[in-house]
Formats: sequence, C-alpha cells, structure tokens
Amino acid sequence: MKIARFSRIGFILAAAGSAVGLGNIWKFPYIAGESGGGAFVLIYLVTVLLIGFSILISEMLIGYMGRKDGVSSFESLAPKHKNIWKFAGFQSVTGLFIMTFYSVVIGWILHYIVTSTTSLPSSIQEAESTFTTMLYSDISTQLFYHTLVFLIITYILTKGIKGGIQRLNLLLMPTLMIIILGMFAYATTLDAFSQSLEFMFAPKWDKIDSGVFITAIGHAFFTLSLGMGAILTYSASMPKNSNLVQNAIWITLLDTVIAIIAGLMLFTFLYEYGSSPAKGPGLVFISLPTVFFEMGIIGNFFAILFFIALAFAGLTSAVSLVEPMIEYFIDRFKWSRLRASVSMGLFFYLFGIVALLSNTDAYKELLSFGSRNFFDWMDHIATSIMLPLAGLVMALFIGFAVEKQRVESIVKHQFGVVAFKVWYFSLRYITPVAMILLLLSLLEII
Ligand code: PFF
Ligand code: NA
Repeated sequence: MKIARFSRIGFILAAAGSAVGLGNIWKFPYIAGESGGGAFVLIYLVTVLLIGFSILISEMLIGYMGRKDGVSSFESLAPKHKNIWKFAGFQSVTGLFIMTFYSVVIGWILHYIVTSTTSLPSSIQEAESTFTTMLYSDISTQLFYHTLVFLIITYILTKGIKGGIQRLNLLLMPTLMIIILGMFAYATTLDAFSQSLEFMFAPKWDKIDSGVFITAIGHAFFTLSLGMGAILTYSASMPKNSNLVQNAIWITLLDTVIAIIAGLMLFTFLYEYGSSPAKGPGLVFISLPTVFFEMGIIGNFFAILFFIALAFAGLTSAVSLVEPMIEYFIDRFKWSRLRASVSMGLFFYLFGIVALLSNTDAYKELLSFGSRNFFDWMDHIATSIMLPLAGLVMALFIGFAVEKQRVESIVKHQFGVVAFKVWYFSLRYITPVAMILLLLSLLEII
C-alpha cells in the first residue's frame, strides 16, 4: 500500500508531464510533416481517442486497483492460478531501455540551451555541421551532459513521489506551458500562421496510405506514455476516490493540445523563414536553430526558451521512465528508495554511455549489430516491440481477464453507461486488432 500519494492536481500534472515529452515537441511535428499534414493529424486524433485513450484508462485501472509496482499489481488482479499475467508487469523494464537514449537526447538539448546564449548557425549547412560534429565526434561534450542528466534525474528520484516527482512537475509543467503558449501567441501574429494552419488541418487525402495509419497508431501510443508501466506506476499513487475518466481526459487533452500548438508554432516559424516542414528528425536540432538565427535578436531569446521547454518536457518524461523499476525493487525486494534510485540511475547511465558512443565515428563499428547501432536498437526494441506488446496485453487483461464487474464498479459511473460500452468494446476488439496490426507492420511482417 502506498503511503505518499499524489494530490489530485499533482497526479494530473505528473501523468501529463510523462505524456508531454520529446514526442510532442520534437517527434509529432516532423512525422506530421513527413506524412503530409492535415489528413495525418485527423487520423492521429481519432486513434488517440479510440485506441490511446482506451489503453490509458486500462493502464490507470491496473495501477489504481493494484496499488503496487507493475508486477505485483498484475499479480494481485489476475484470476487465481493464472499468474503468468504477472509477467506483463515486466513492461517496466522498457523504461530503462528508452532511458539509455532519452537521456542522451536530453543532454543534447541542455547543450543547445547553452550554445544558444552565444551563437546560432547562420545557414542550414552550418547548423547541420554543428549538430553532426557533436553527434559523431564530440564525445566529451555529450558525456558531460549525459552525466548531468543522470545526476539531475537520480537526485529527483531519490526524493520520491511527493517530494521529487510531484514537485518537479508542479514547477516544470506550468513553466513549459507558459513558454509554449507565449511562443505560439507570437507565431499567430506572423503572416505564415495561416499557411501553418492550412498545413496542419487541411486534409490531403492522397498522401494517406496504410503506413500513415500505422504511424498514427504507434505515435498515439508513444505520446500518451503507454505500455511501460509509467502511467500504471503513477496511478498506484493516485489519491483515493479519484475519477479516472476525468483524469484521463485531462492527460489526453494536455498532451494533444501541446502537440498541436507546438506543431503550429514550429511550422509557422519554418514557413515564415523559408524552410519546409518535411525535415525529419533534424527539424529541431538543424532547421529550427537556423530559423531562430533569421529572427535576429529575439531569435536567441526564443531559442533559449524553446530548448528550456524541450528540456523540461524531456525531464518530466524521464523520471516516469525510471520510476516503475524503482518501485519494483522497493516493493518486491524491500530496497531503500536511495538504493533503488541510484542503481536504476547507474543502469541507464552506463548503458546510455554505450548508446552515446555507438553514434560516434570512433566506436560506431564496434557498437553496431546487424543493421543498427546500439542507440537505434534500444529505440527500436522498445518502441516497436515492447510498447505495443504491452498495450495489447493490457487491453486483453482488462477486457477479458479481470472480471467485468470489478472494472464496472470503478469506471462505469465515471464514464456513463453508453461511453462505458463503447470503451469496453474498443478495448476488447478494436484495440487488440490495431495493436496486432501495428506489431506486424513494425516488425516488417506486413
Ligand atoms: N510520452 C513521451 C513523449 O511523448 O515524449 C514519451 C514517453 C515517456 C513514453 C514515458 C513512455 C513513457 F513511459
Ligand atoms: Na507525448
């Protein structure tokens, strides 16, 4: 039984802090760009509602009813003698996998905050060479910032749910929202804003193929932090008598609105200063700094603020990636929080160094296996295999394994009768099929 619980607003901000991450501000704009804008955004919104939201509620339910770490929660909720379900709790390990590269990327962001104070690249070529030089050959800079990220995150986690995670989110999330809203407000005054609106919302149906659906489902999932025990673990510390459905609506709303606002803002800046939206992963680290340079002096100011917001989004997600395994060792092995936090921190720190080195010219060969280096393998295994697999298992678990009555007794009146039916149906039939399709396609089977 958890003693230190979140407050109501603390839970919502912590869960939204987990959801709002690099996925919203860095990934969503560039995949929307690559998938042709409007039609993709529409499909994404529908999948968030139908699939993302329904798994979000399930994952919250498992944590809220189980009140323990992932493994123990599954164990206590599973029907008797069916305790293989508890292995679903090991989805928590995925968070550590993700942290090996997430930490490195947050490190780059911190570096960009610092360099934005003095200089911005005056051309795309310069921006590209700055970024690739750091990535491929500047080991000491990356190591320095990766170490810093490790220290910050581990320190926060040693302070626990209330004093660490909740405090961090109460501080960082409102700040992040103010920065993004402020920059968005400025973007609305620029001529290119209407172009950006058109790009995000006018559907170009000819760009849509099955691949776009798959991308949308995968992202709906990743963006809401589903499938790695993060939401589950936070939900175990939700205050008693919480309204899960209401909380889930808040989390989904914040995550979606921030992605859309960030996208509209970035595209406005890119159009205004003559860059195109379809720029891939380099959008934030290469195209955007050049755009900030073009803005003149206000550009430096915006660059710093923007990278601070991005760092905040990353940090609040990062703590949620590590916390599930910490709780596991505290609950199951009676480790102290200090010991669990430092051990899990060291784990992602050390493997993070391997991930970092695997991008560099000097170690690339040594640290590549088959078609990918270590950094990309971690991303691929986690996002393409472990997340959707856990999603599938959770949908089936709540949809079929846990007695319907138990589920009803908590969320039916929160949903209302009709919405409950729709949700339960989606959980049993629509979501599993979607997850299976997603898995097959990500594994390149279909
Ligand atoms: N939801 C985060 C994002 O959109 O960047 C990524 C993430 C964080 C996924 C935490 C999963 C998680 F547990
Ligand atoms: Na997100």
